[in-house]
Formats: sequence, structure tokens, C-alpha cells
Amino acid sequence: MTTDHDTRPVVLDQDFFDDPDALYRELRDARPVTRATGPNGLTFWMVTRYDDARAALNDPRLRKDSRRLPEVLQRHGATSFRQFADSLVGHMLNADPPDHTRLRKLVGRAFTVRAIARLRPRIEQIATELADAAEQAGPELDLLDHFAFPLPMTVISEILGVPGERREDFRHWSNLLLSSGPDEERAAAAASMAQFLSELVADKSAHPGDDMLSEIVRASEDGDSLSSTEVTAMAFLLLVAGHETTVNLIGNGMLALLRDPDQHARLRADPDRVPHAVEEFLRYDGPVNLATIRFTDEPVEYSGVTIPAGEVVLVSLIGANRDPGRYPDPQRFDPDRDTSGHLAFGYGIHHCLGAPLARLEADVAFRTLLARFPDMALAGAPGQYRESTLIHALTALPVRLNA
Ligand code: HEM
Repeated sequence: MTTDHDTRPVVLDQDFFDDPDALYRELRDARPVTRATGPNGLTFWMVTRYDDARAALNDPRLRKDSRRLPEVLQRHGATSFRQFADSLVGHMLNADPPDHTRLRKLVGRAFTVRAIARLRPRIEQIATELADAAEQAGPELDLLDHFAFPLPMTVISEILGVPGERREDFRHWSNLLLSSGPDEERAAAAASMAQFLSELVADKSAHPGDDMLSEIVRASEDGDSLSSTEVTAMAFLLLVAGHETTVNLIGNGMLALLRDPDQHARLRADPDRVPHAVEEFLRYDGPVNLATIRFTDEPVEYSGVTIPAGEVVLVSLIGANRDPGRYPDPQRFDPDRDTSGHLAFGYGIHHCLGAPLARLEADVAFRTLLARFPDMALAGAPGQYRESTLIHALTALPVRLNA
């Protein structure tokens, strides 16, 4: 990374993806609101302090507007965004009120804590089956491949009604889209993804089931509340958000535990502390690094720095959650600390819809892993982190299941 000249954008490279807070520590003090360039050439403003991050996430002057987004991004150096079909972009996370309000309302009821709690027995069953299969495949394996990925992917696919045989394809395309590979590869992945989703939606229309996607399709056919592009984009958002994030909550959280044998032992001895530990996993090393793209419609000011109109802004959730002004000794993993107010799920109107599901999945995942593999240990260095400004994701987590 280069931070030598105050007005030049900070260049985000593999060192940053591997340890983002090393950069945030410098920036929070010296340049809390600064310009940065990501691996796909996009230059944007980065907000790294807790108070600024929270204010920005809740600031109506920062827009999402999917219709204007491609033009704004291209103006700021992004090369690959134009390849994303409308059917992948026009979802609630890229919408402002009133569209956002309408889209979120359609699925909001299905994701409340109460509605999600009913899924616990099924999630426990999936976790147990995965632990059984891991035991067969062990004693050394990649915990991401064998457990952390298939758990949330199976759950969100069952909720939405995605057939099992397509899930690996989906993972492959999604990996390409969220990382920073060559443009052609990403364009091909976007096209395959768009085609897969439109076929899936057509199938739900012809043969409705009792899954959530069939319900969303029915809502779009019953009234004028949802266009067919919006249905596909909603399916895309729920599927991607449903599996690209929780896998890393399990992966990053397990890594923190395996590096801290005392805390690992304490949690094993008292699994009822898991929900609180999960909140510290989220604060300490959350799955989302920089939140999704917002742009300014008018000048905005944070920490005395003015961001002009028409600029791209990315809010750092990892930077905010490691701000010593909010969390004392923030580099310390401490499951007993007060984690309230962490921004791992965002803040404001786009606060994560799936937070109750993610928390439930993580609770079941850690209880299952601690009970089944109490002696789990690292089996080598974890892989590098993926080249993405959005997600903070290990490429592999090699573990030995038993002593
Ligand atoms: C939004 C994080 C799991 C669905 C968000 C945002 C964050 C986030 C930070 C806001 C982004 C922004 O404002 O730019 C996470 C984390 C997860 C997780 C850390 C796991 C640990 C899930 C799951 C689902 C989901 C399991 C399942 C459906 C969504 C949706 C939105 C969202 C639909 C958009 C909400 C809106 O625009 O109103 N998530 N998420 N997320 N998340 Fe999650």
C-alpha cells in the first residue's frame, strides 16, 4: 500500500486484503476520510472512523440508485461494472426509498428473529450431517469447503428453493463476481449467473413450490409490486448475501478461536457463551470489509473533510469496528467485551436483512464444531484472503479435526 502523499489515493493491494486494519490504524488517525483505489481501478472515498462510518451509513445524502450507479462507477475508473446485467443489479441493496422500502417489505416478514428461529432444528440437522461427513473425510481438511461454506449455502438454497445440483456452479460464479479477476472472466460469470437465475424464476412460475422464491414470483404475478427484473435481482441478492458472508463469519471466527487456545477452551466448557462470542467474532474480524457502494448527490462532510457531489463512498466496517475511540484495545479478541453497536451488519435502512439467520447459523455451527471436534487445531497456515474490497474472506482454513 502507498500512503506517502496526502492527496494521492491509497492503493489497496494484497497486504490490505490480508490485514486491513494495519492500514486503517494509520488512516483513522492521519486521514480518516481519504481517497483510495481498489484492484479493479475504482477510485473512491473511504471512511474509517466509527462515528463517521455510522453517520455515513445513515446519511440520506449518500445514494444507491442502481440506475445511475454504472455511470458513476465508470466515471471513477471502474472497468467491470458494465458487465453486470440489470437483473443482477436492481435489488434492494442498490435502491433508495421508496423502491427500497417496497422491496424490503416483500421479504422482511420472512427474516424476523421469530420466523427464522423455526429453522433451528433443520439447521442443526444440516450441521450434524456436515460434521459426520467431515469426520469421514478428515482428520485434516479445509474447514471452509467441508463445513463453513456448505452450511449457509444449503440453508439459503432450501429457503429459496434452489436445486442442490446447481449450488457448486453458483458458488463458482459468485466467487468470480465478488473477487477481482480479469474482466472477461467476470463478465462470463455474470452472464451465466443471470441466465441461471432467469431459468430458475421461470421454473418457479411454471411449477410453484412452498419456497420463498415461488412466493416472491407469485407476488410479482398477483400485482404490480415487483417487476420480473426485480424478482431475479432479489433472488441474486438473497443467494449471494446468504452464503458469501456467513461462511466467513464461521471461518474468521474459528480462526480467532484456534489462535487463542484459552478462549477456545473456555467456550468449549460453556457453549451458552457462543452467541456472545459470535458478536465478538463479528466485531473483531467481520465478513464485510468495506460496505457496498454509495455515491454523493451533494457535498458531505465527515471529520472535517468535504467529499464533493458525484463521488463514490465506501464505508469501512472493519475500520469502524476496530476504532479505539469506540472499542478499547480493539486489536484484542475478547469474547467478554461489550460489542454493542458494532457495524458488521451495517446500519440504517440497509442494515442486514439476514442478520437473524446469520446469527442462528453461526450459533449452531460453533456449538456443533466445539462439541464434535473439541481438539480441533490449525493444520498449517490459513490461505491468503480473497482479493475483494467487499468481503474479508479466507481462501482456505486447513484444520486437523482431532488431536
Ligand atoms: C445487507 C452483512 C448475512 C441478506 C447487509 C449489509 C451488511 C451485511 C454489512 C449492509 C451493506 C451496506 O449497507 O452496504 C452481513 C453479514 C452476514 C450477512 C456480516 C453474515 C455474517 C446475510 C444473510 C442474508 C443476508 C444470511 C440472507 C438472506 C442481506 C440483504 C441485505 C443485506 C438482503 C440488503 C438489505 C437492504 O438493502 O435493506 N448484510 N450479512 N445477509 N444482507 Fe447481510
